[in-house]
Amino acid sequence: MNDNEVIILGIESSCDDTSAAILKNGRILSNVVANQKVHEKFGGVVPELASRAHQQNIIPVVETAIQEAGIQKNNLSGIAFTQGPGLLGSLVVGTSFAKSFAMGLGIPMMAVNHMQGHILAHFIKGDQTEQPQFPFICMTVSGGHTQLVLVRNYFDMEIIGQTMDDAAGEAFDKAAKIMGLPYPGGPLIDKYAKSGDPRKFEFPTSNIPDFNFSFSGLKTSILYFLQKEMKKNDQFIKENLADICASYQHTIIKTLFKKLIKACRKHNITDVAIAGGVSANSLLRSELERIGKKEGWRTFIPSFEYCTDNAGMIAIAGYYKFLEGQFATQDITPNARLKF
Ligand code: KG4
Ligand code: ZN
Repeated sequence: MNDNEVIILGIESSCDDTSAAILKNGRILSNVVANQKVHEKFGGVVPELASRAHQQNIIPVVETAIQEAGIQKNNLSGIAFTQGPGLLGSLVVGTSFAKSFAMGLGIPMMAVNHMQGHILAHFIKGDQTEQPQFPFICMTVSGGHTQLVLVRNYFDMEIIGQTMDDAAGEAFDKAAKIMGLPYPGGPLIDKYAKSGDPRKFEFPTSNIPDFNFSFSGLKTSILYFLQKEMKKNDQFIKENLADICASYQHTIIKTLFKKLIKACRKHNITDVAIAGGVSANSLLRSELERIGKKEGWRTFIPSFEYCTDNAGMIAIAGYYKFLEGQFATQDITPNARLKF
């Protein structure tokens, strides 16, 4: 390895995925994700079980990432880890591991905000020819967050709009649960929606001021709607699954774009990105392209492996912190409600 090479180990453990990635000068060499199946039967993430699974997974996942990258641990320049936001018991595992591994190797560590990681995934060097130019707006939509972020620089970000209650991913997952689909239901709603009619059923959209969102009313409306229909016909969900999914998904995506368009016009932004687990949604991706053309935006969509939680995004954020000399000290602690 020569002196110009910066090799970062990224560690992500904020929720229910244990992930480790190796990034060399901004390029991914490996990105290993261990999903935790244990939550499926509970219909949501059980924090205590997540923490325990992270403890079991962290060493094998890091070892696999190092092996797949074809490097030795002594080649590492620094270790990036998710400090928050997330589940405290889950964050503790990644943070403690990063602290001891960095101390053992005598290399610096970088504390990363998970939400900034989602956004900075756009700067992972790969097949894409262009990266967003500052300032741009990123709509970060995940299971825990829905944010419109004005990104002025790598670590100069301002949340200009966010959800007042449920996140977009939560709206997907909770509706899926009501329909009897396993957790996480977002990808399944996306899948069934493909053969459904988005205009078959109408769900209300919220009317929240500024660039903020609300999804809890939508969730309640699908619950009451399905309860009413199931009383009349107990096969209603089964018989109409594709149309329900398509109509519900259409309502969420329409709500998101209403605010995104408003924010971009207000801030004169023409570079627009999406990030977070829900950015894997096929309608969100196609609508970004369609609306982007109409609005004159350059649009940036992460490749699937960098949409949902992964350590590659933590490694790239850590890489920029490394270049700027923003290192964490051994007294750092995880923060479940970390802001930026
Ligand atoms: O970013 P992420 O992996 O974890 C959090 O930080 O929350 O996002 C997970 C969320 C879940 O709510 C999941 O249902 C949703 O992303 N999701 C999707 C799709 N793929 C993942 N939602 C809709 N359509 C998808 N294709
Ligand atoms: Zn996430």
